[in-house]
This record gives sequence, C-alpha cells and structure tokens, in this order.
Amino acid sequence: MKQFPKDFLWGASSSAFQIEGAWNEDGKSMNVPDYNSFKKSHIQADSKVASDFYHHYKEDIALMKELGMHIYRFSISWSRIIPDGDGEVNTKGIDFYNNVIDCLIENDIIPFVTLFHFDTPYPLVEKYNGWADRRCVYAFEKFAKVCFESFGDRVKLWQVHNEQNLMIRVDERMNIEESDSYKADVLRYQMDYHMFLAHALATNACHEMVEGGKIGPAVSSTITYPTTNKPEDVYAAKMNNRFKTDYCLDVHFNGEYPGYFKKYLMECNLFPKTEPGDEELLKSAKMDFIALNYYRTLSASFLPVDEEHPLGTKHNDIDYDLYGYFKIDKNINLKASEYGAQIDPMGLRLVLNDYYDRYHLPLIITENGLGTADVLTEEGKVHDDYRIDYLKNHIEAIHDAIEDGVDMMGYCLWSFMDLLSSHQGFKKRYGLVYVNREDHDLKDMARIKKDSFYWYQKVIQNNGL
Ligand code: BG6
Repeated sequence: MKQFPKDFLWGASSSAFQIEGAWNEDGKSMNVPDYNSFKKSHIQADSKVASDFYHHYKEDIALMKELGMHIYRFSISWSRIIPDGDGEVNTKGIDFYNNVIDCLIENDIIPFVTLFHFDTPYPLVEKYNGWADRRCVYAFEKFAKVCFESFGDRVKLWQVHNEQNLMIRVDERMNIEESDSYKADVLRYQMDYHMFLAHALATNACHEMVEGGKIGPAVSSTITYPTTNKPEDVYAAKMNNRFKTDYCLDVHFNGEYPGYFKKYLMECNLFPKTEPGDEELLKSAKMDFIALNYYRTLSASFLPVDEEHPLGTKHNDIDYDLYGYFKIDKNINLKASEYGAQIDPMGLRLVLNDYYDRYHLPLIITENGLGTADVLTEEGKVHDDYRIDYLKNHIEAIHDAIEDGVDMMGYCLWSFMDLLSSHQGFKKRYGLVYVNREDHDLKDMARIKKDSFYWYQKVIQNNGL
C-alpha cells in the first residue's frame, strides 16, 4: 500500500471556458477561446455550451462531494467579471462565482482558483491587441484585485496564469495573427513580458489583500531526455527544457530572465520594451508554491546552427523546435497516447524532484490525465480501465517523489468531468464523469460516473493506492 501524507489534498481540475458554457449569459462578453472556438465550430464543439457547468454547478459539486474531493481547482472567467476587460464590474458574474464558492465550501471542498486560463476578454484584443499592450497588465491587475476583494474571504489558494510558458508559444491563444515570423516573435516576447509583470502585480496584491492567501503559477511541465548520450544531445535536451519551461519559473523566482534566455532575445533582436521600476516589481513578487500540469515528456537531439538553420529560424515542421538548436524526437522507450503524448510516469517523478531541487517550494499538481475517446455502453457505463492505469501509474510516481523528499501539497487530476478539449472538442475526453453530449449533438447533458470515478473515490478514501 502506498500511503500518502495525512494532509495530502486530493482533487480535480477544470477551466472556465472548457466547462461553463453560458458564453454570453448574464453580461459575459466574448473572450479569445470563444472567438477561436467559434471559428472552428464546423469541425468540433465550441464554448457556447461546453459542459454547461453554469447551469449544472450544484449537481456537479454534489458529485465532487460524492467522489470525496478535498480541493477543486477551477478558473474564473475574466470576461464574466469585467466584460469589457478593464471597465465596469458585472455583479452577476460575481454572484455566479460566489454561488460556486459557497456551494463548494458547504460541501467541504477547498476552492482553488486560477485567475487566468487562456481567456483574455476579446474587447481587449479589439482595443489594443490584448497582452501586446502594457495597458493589459493593469487591466489584469484590476481584475485580480476585484477577485481578491470579492472572494478572498473564502478563497485562500490562488493561481495566477495557467501555463504562461505554453500559452505564449501558441499564436491562436495569444491572438497573434502575424504572418511574418519575426514580427510574430516581437509580439510574443512583449506579451510574455507583460504577463510576467501582471503575474507579479497579482501576486503582491494577493499577499496584501487576502489574509492567509497563498499564490503561485501553474506551469506546463515536462522533462526533455537526450535522444543519445552524446554530450551535444544532452545539451539539446537541457536547452529544450530551459526554453520551454525553466525560464518561466526562473523569472518568477529570480525576477529576471536567466542568461541564456536574455542572450537569445538580444541576439534575435526580440528583447521586450521595459520601464523603470519593472525589475523591482518582478523581484518583489514571491511565489508560495509551484503548481504544475504534467502530461508528457520529450526527447531531443542536437541540431547544429548552420545556414539552413540559423539561430532563431522558425520551422513549421514539428520535427524542429522553435529555436533552431535541437530536434524533437520520438522516444522509443515510451508509448504515446492516441494524440501523440508520450506517457511517462517516471518522468513525473523526475520533474517533481527537479523543481523541488531548484526552488525548494511546495509543489501541487493541477493537471494530469489521459485524453481519449470513451465509449458509453448500452447499460450506461464507461469502462475506462486505460484511464485508471494512467492515473495509477502517475500517482505512484508522485508517491515515489514524496519518498525522494519532495514536499507535495496535493494532486488535482485533469479533469473532474468531460470538457471541451482545446483542439478536439468532446472527441477527446479526460473526465472521471462522462458528459452525455457529442460535438454536434447536445443530447441530454447527463452526468455519468465512469469506472475511474469509483476507482479514484477509493484512492481518496484510502489516502493512497
Ligand atoms: C493543458 C491546458 O495544457 O492541457 C488545458 O491547461 C487543456 O486547458 C489540457 O485542456 C489538455 O489539452 P487538450 O488539448 O487535450 O485539451
């Protein structure tokens, strides 16, 4: 039996645009994920209804209670709270989240709130292209303060941005519609920098405004293995890790870009515009914990910088990393999910050890799960033993990391119920609870407990496996 520490928090996660629906109800405005999903609605579900949590939240929280969850990680939609992004507060938006938070607390579930999960209000894009403009930093600070003021008496655990390090690499999420790759990167790194400033302002505001409040980032975590033991490949793997995840945590931790990142930005003429006082701000904001989302690991080999691949070259070909230093390879030792994620529980143990060694802060997992098609049988069951296997192996890896000495606060799997996947609508499901809808058929939206629901319920009851 792998027993977990007695205060270990077992939970599950979601995000606003992926579950709520009610995309324009009670004053909410369109946000960037709405905009993007409407563009693609001919091929998949969009965010208009999603899992309809907005109208089912009581029933869903009752299921969370039945599951035995200690903690629920979810996000607040900025465009529900401040529909035009930086103006009037929408009291109906505040009411909705007050109801959700109160309902969670009545059911003994700790609310764990993410302020920003990919969902920039679209009016800010129309006004000044969102994060490209420094005004977005202050708009976000205002939104964060409204949340701390309205919910901080009951919500003590906060996350600022979900996966800033991944988000900025995806043009669609950042609403970068620039075909010239250099110009797109100028925007990208300015946006990234603005998000760092916003992160620091929100972190400080949380510490000032929320009594006993704790706040941290949620990073998209991975580890990159060298494809061979050639020293050049080891370097390639290290650089891939640094550029994809480590630089982001380093900025949060040290308040400045690490040397290799600064060098890259300078050499490629991408260094963002800064203002006096920024450095002090970035250095003043202290994370209380690190949350990490973990799905896969990568493997890399060295790609020499030459005429064909000069520093900073952009490759659309997925074999190349954005930075032109290294090539991403398949890891022949690992199986991949049907969507290509290399499944690697041991990698999770490595990531947890690595982050703890570097930052010595408590860690919590806020996403980890298997996205795949599920079959609802005629008897109304979902036999998802593949998901149980995946979760079991990853939970064991967390237990191993705890034995290695890592300070783990808890585990929130992705996801509590089926939700709108970022790219595959409802074809790719992650939930412990099946939501009875298809991409183009809303059916009855019934909630059906999968086999993994009952399995996780036992894990929580036993505080281990
Ligand atoms: C994470 C995001 O990157 O991955 C989630 O924080 C997302 O919002 C999850 O849903 C899984 O990705 P996908 O593309 O399968 O939905």
